[in-house]
Amino acid sequence: MGKMQRATSAANAFCDRLWGRGSDMADQMHSLPRVGRFADRTIDARTYTDPNVLAMEVQAVFRQSWIAAVPSWKLRGPNRYATLSESGIDIVVTRDANGTLAAFHNRCLHRGSRIVHGCGKAKELKCGYHGWVFGLEGRLIHAPASDGFGGVDVHGMRLISVPVREFGGLIWVNLSDQPRDFSDSLCGIDAELEPYGLSEMEPIEERVFSIPVNWKVMLENAFDYYHVSEVHGQTIHAHVKTRPEMALYGDHVRQNVHIAPYTWRSLIDRRCSRGGPYTAKQVSQLYKYTLFPNTMLNVLPYHLTVMRFWPDGVGGTRLHYAFCKRTGARGLEWARAHATWVASRIILAEDVRMLLRCQTHPDSQAVQHHILHDQEAAAIHLHETLERWKGRGADASG
Ligand code: FES
Ligand SMILES: [Fe+2]
Repeated sequence: MGKMQRATSAANAFCDRLWGRGSDMADQMHSLPRVGRFADRTIDARTYTDPNVLAMEVQAVFRQSWIAAVPSWKLRGPNRYATLSESGIDIVVTRDANGTLAAFHNRCLHRGSRIVHGCGKAKELKCGYHGWVFGLEGRLIHAPASDGFGGVDVHGMRLISVPVREFGGLIWVNLSDQPRDFSDSLCGIDAELEPYGLSEMEPIEERVFSIPVNWKVMLENAFDYYHVSEVHGQTIHAHVKTRPEMALYGDHVRQNVHIAPYTWRSLIDRRCSRGGPYTAKQVSQLYKYTLFPNTMLNVLPYHLTVMRFWPDGVGGTRLHYAFCKRTGARGLEWARAHATWVASRIILAEDVRMLLRCQTHPDSQAVQHHILHDQEAAAIHLHETLERWKGRGADASG
C-alpha cells in the first residue's frame, strides 16, 4: 500500500469513528424514482459529438431559456458591471447609481464590438474601438464626432436590452423574443431556496476551468451517483451510503444527498446555520439543484457551490466554478465552509482526472448508444428536457 493510500485509509477510518458509520440513518436507503420516458434507457452517442446537436442546443435552449449570466456578488453596490462571454453569447449586466439592475447584449451599436470585459466598478461603459460611451442604463451618452454619420442620427440610441432577474445568488437573463415568466420557470425552487439567503453568499474561490469534454458529459458527471463508488472510492464514497433522493421541478432537478450520519455534526451545524427556518433535512443533507440548462447549485446553510457548464465547441466545457461562504462568516461557520471547500476541491479533482482519462475524444461510431442506470436518472431527465426544447426550436423554424 502506497503512502497516499495509507493516509487516505487512515483518514477514512478516523472519519468513520467520528461519523458513527453504520448508524440507522446511514443504512436507510432512499428510493430513487425511475423516470418513465426514454424507456429503453439509451441515448444516441452522437448527441455528445455532433456539432449540429450543439448548434441546436445553443439556439433552441441557451438562447431561449433563462440562463445564469453572472454571480450576484459581482454586482453588489452601485455603479457595477459584469459580463458573460460564453457559447457565442455576450452579455453585460449593470447596476446603476440607484441600484437598478439591467442587462444588455455586450455589443457596440457602432460596429458590433464587444464593449467591456470582465467585471468592475464604472459609471459608464466605453467601447475600446472608437470610444462610444453608454450609460449603465444603456443610453448612448457620447459618440466622438457624432455628426459624421450622414443622415443617421445616433443620438438617443440604446444598447439592446434583455430581461434580467436576480435569484439564488445569481443574475439571470433571457435572450428569447418571448421569454417565459421567470418565476413560473423555477417551478417552486425559488420558495424552497428562500431560507438559505443565497444572495448573501460570497466566494472563497472562484475559477473558470477549460476542460476538453462535452458540456453534457461534465454536467451529467456532477449529478450522476452511479460513478461514486468507482471514482470516489477512496474519499467520499465511504461516507455516502445512501442514494440521493431525487425530485423533479419542471425542467429542473433536486437531489439531496445524505453525507455521513447526522449525529455529532448537528451540534456544529446548528451553530453554523444562519438564515432559515430550515427543515431537519435541509440542515443535515447536501441539496443539489440542477437548474436547466447548465447551472448547478450545491447548498447547505453555510455553503454554496455554483457550477455553470458552458459549451466550448462540441468537445469542450468552460466550467465556471465558485465555492462560497456566507458574507461575514466567522469562527466555526468560517471553518466549516472552508473545510467543505477543501473536500469539494478533492472530489472535483477526482472527477476531472477521470474525465480527462476517460471522456475526451469520444468515438460515437464504436459505441453508438449509451445505456443509463437508475442512478443516472437525472441524466435521463436532462436529455428528455433538451429534446423537448429542441423540438420547440425545430417547430418554430419549420
Ligand atoms: S465599434 Fe464601438 S465605438 Fe466603434
Ligand atoms: Fe464525481
